[in-house]
Order: sequence, then structure tokens, then C-alpha cells
Amino acid sequence: MEGYCIRLKEDLQGQVPRGRENLGRTFGSGCVRCGKREKAMGQRIEDTVTVITGASSGIGRATALIFAKHGGTVLLVARREAALEALALECEAAGGHALALPADVTDPGALERVARQAVESCGRIDVWVNNAAVTLFGRFEETPLRDFRRVLETNLLGYVHGARAVLPWFREQGRGILINIASGVAKMPQPFTSAYVISKYGIVALSDCLRQELVDVPGIRVVTVLPGATNTPLFQQGANYMGWAARPLGPVADPERVARAILSAALAPEREVVIGAGVRAGIALERLAPALRDRWAARWVEQGHFEERPVAPSSGNLFQPMPEYARLRGDWAQPARQPGWPWMILGGVLGLCMGVALAGRGR
Ligand SMILES: NC(=O)c1ccc[n+]([C@@H]2O[C@H](COP(=O)([O-])OP(=O)(O)OC[C@H]3O[C@@H](n4cnc5c(N)ncnc54)[C@H](OP(=O)(O)O)[C@@H]3O)[C@@H](O)[C@H]2O)c1
Repeated sequence: MEGYCIRLKEDLQGQVPRGRENLGRTFGSGCVRCGKREKAMGQRIEDTVTVITGASSGIGRATALIFAKHGGTVLLVARREAALEALALECEAAGGHALALPADVTDPGALERVARQAVESCGRIDVWVNNAAVTLFGRFEETPLRDFRRVLETNLLGYVHGARAVLPWFREQGRGILINIASGVAKMPQPFTSAYVISKYGIVALSDCLRQELVDVPGIRVVTVLPGATNTPLFQQGANYMGWAARPLGPVADPERVARAILSAALAPEREVVIGAGVRAGIALERLAPALRDRWAARWVEQGHFEERPVAPSSGNLFQPMPEYARLRGDWAQPARQPGWPWMILGGVLGLCMGVALAGRGR
């Protein structure tokens, strides 16, 4: 089968995108370009058309590669065009089909064009992964408001824009999977990253609201993925007003681990996918003993999330992408120093005991 998608970009130049009226014609009969036949959702990744935002680095990049390795068609969205083009070639070499569609997720029109181009090229969208995000380290009162707002615009409104771009097509198709990548911090807050945490809480709420609003179309599924600390360039690219270089907090997973969970969600969608025992323990503790967690969170985060390496205040990649970090991994294979981590496990166990004791007393 020819690798149509790289060339397709040239094909599309100057064309008026096909409207939704053509969807019925192409949907069910396979891709308009390569003639791939549609399969029932969740059966075979090789027959799946997936849009991935934030594909130029980290988890999005790993997700594109794993879908491609399984023969899937991936439409790659981010701002760093050269990185997307290079990734598209890697995806083709891995056995998939890929098309780079540079776009800024803060622009709703840009994501509408992405959705339209996806349908234009492949006849349908099976899976849309909202994944693009930025982060911001700093004390709440010392963080520039402009940066705070940009995090919410990218992480939360970016997902809203993605959902609004794809849901009309899903409704038309009667099916589709929307996967929203949140974070463990969406259910266990942490200090010095408040804009990021707020955006992640909002993403869980967005998924929950959409799930209820879409009950009339059972073929549309909404999945929230909650990864823990992952070895990606997120921390190097992030805005930083703490004065110290940031690093992942807690045990660090490989981006491929999260990518595999996203692949599973595309095959067998669930409401929520929590990745890692540490995230589960943290969420349990937050539910059972929030005041206890409040007390040591600040110390734990300050010690574990930052290195003893001073950095100048910076808005990182919030407004302009950073080409040097267009890669799969950050530089943290294993945590160097995580003094609070054993305490977190202990806290989780204590919280669990307290919860069980309180539940017993309530009977
Ligand atoms: N790494 C972790 O520890 C961790 C933990 C839990 C959850 N997560 C979540 O996992 C997802 C992926 O993060 P990651 O760790 O892989 O970070 P990353 O390597 O920094 O990747 C972020 C991606 O978002 C894109 N992006 C940022 N701003 C954008 C914009 N305005 N428009 C379009 N794309 C934009 C970036 O590409 P461009 O700069 O080229 O636009 C990049 O591809 C995020 O939702 C993150 O919150 C990460």
C-alpha cells in the first residue's frame, strides 16, 4: 500500500476541503486515498485513523509511533512543523501512515481545519487524542498572569477546541473515541504548579460532562487518562519562575508506557485509566486524608520536583515552541532524589487505615 499521507499534504494544497456531505460516501467504504476498509471500533489499530495533538515530543510522539507500529494512520498535530514532518517519516518507516498537520491548539479554527483535513484524507476519524499541554512552575502569587492564562488556554481550552472540532464528525459517524490525557494531579493537587493542576482538574470535568451529554450516541466514548510522572521534555520546556530547574516528581515512567495505555484505550475504551501504583496511592490518600496530604505536599513537592540547579525566570515553550526539545524523552530515567516518596507510600497506607476505621465507625 502506498504511503499516501506524506504526499497527501501536497495533494491537499489549494483544495477546498470536502464537506461533511462527503462523509457518508467515504465512511464505511474505507479511506478515500488508500481504500482501507472500515472495521468496527476497537478491533484493529491498523484500520484506525487517529488524530494526536502534542505529537512533536514526549507522550504524543510515543503514541504516534506505537499506533504506527501497529499499522495505524496517525495525524500529527503540534506547533513544531519540522519535528512533525520527521516523525511522520518515522511512523511510515514503522509501518503506519502519517500526516503532519501543524496547528496551535489555542486556535479553535486550526483544530476544526485539522478535523476536516483528517476526514478529507481518510474518510473518517476513529480516535482523537487530546494530549498537547504546557506546564508552569512557580508560586501562585509570583507567577505572571499572562503565563497562567496561557496554560489554561493550551491545556484546558485546547482540549475544548479539540472536542468541539471532532464531536460533530463523531456524531455524524455515530461513533468515535475521544481520549483526553489528564494527569494524576487532576485528582491529587500539588503546589507550585497551580495553573497546570487547575487545567487537569478541568479536563476530568470536561470528560465527565461530555460523557453525560453524549449518552444519546452510545458509539461515542470519552476516556480520561491519568498518567504519573513520565520521562518527557515537559519539565525542560515548561515555564519556570521557581528559581530551580524542574524534574518529574516520583517514580518516572517511560513515555512508551503511557502510549501503550492510550493504545489500549483506543482498543477497549474505559471511563478512566489511571497509570501507576503511585498515582493510585496518591489519589486514595487525597480522598481519605486530604488534610494530612496538605501538610506535607508543599515540602514534598519543593524537595522532589526541583533540582539544586538555579535557572533564570522563563516562559519556556508557552508562547513559542522550543525546537531543541522535540524529542521522545527528558533526561530522567530514574528519580535522582525523591525524599518524600517513601512518606507518600506510608501516608497512603495510613490514609487507607484511617478510612477503613472511619467507615467502620459509621456503620
Ligand atoms: N510528563 C509527565 O510527567 C506527565 C505526567 C502526567 C500527564 N502528562 C500529560 O501528558 C501529555 C503530554 O505531555 P508530555 O509529558 O509528553 O510533554 P511534552 O513532551 O512537553 O509534550 C507536549 C506537547 O504539546 C505540544 N504543545 C504545547 N503547546 C501547544 C500548542 N499551543 N499547540 C499545539 N501543541 C502544543 C508540544 O508541541 P509543540 O511545542 O511543537 O507545539 C508537545 O508536542 C500532557 O497532557 C501532559 O500534561 C505528562
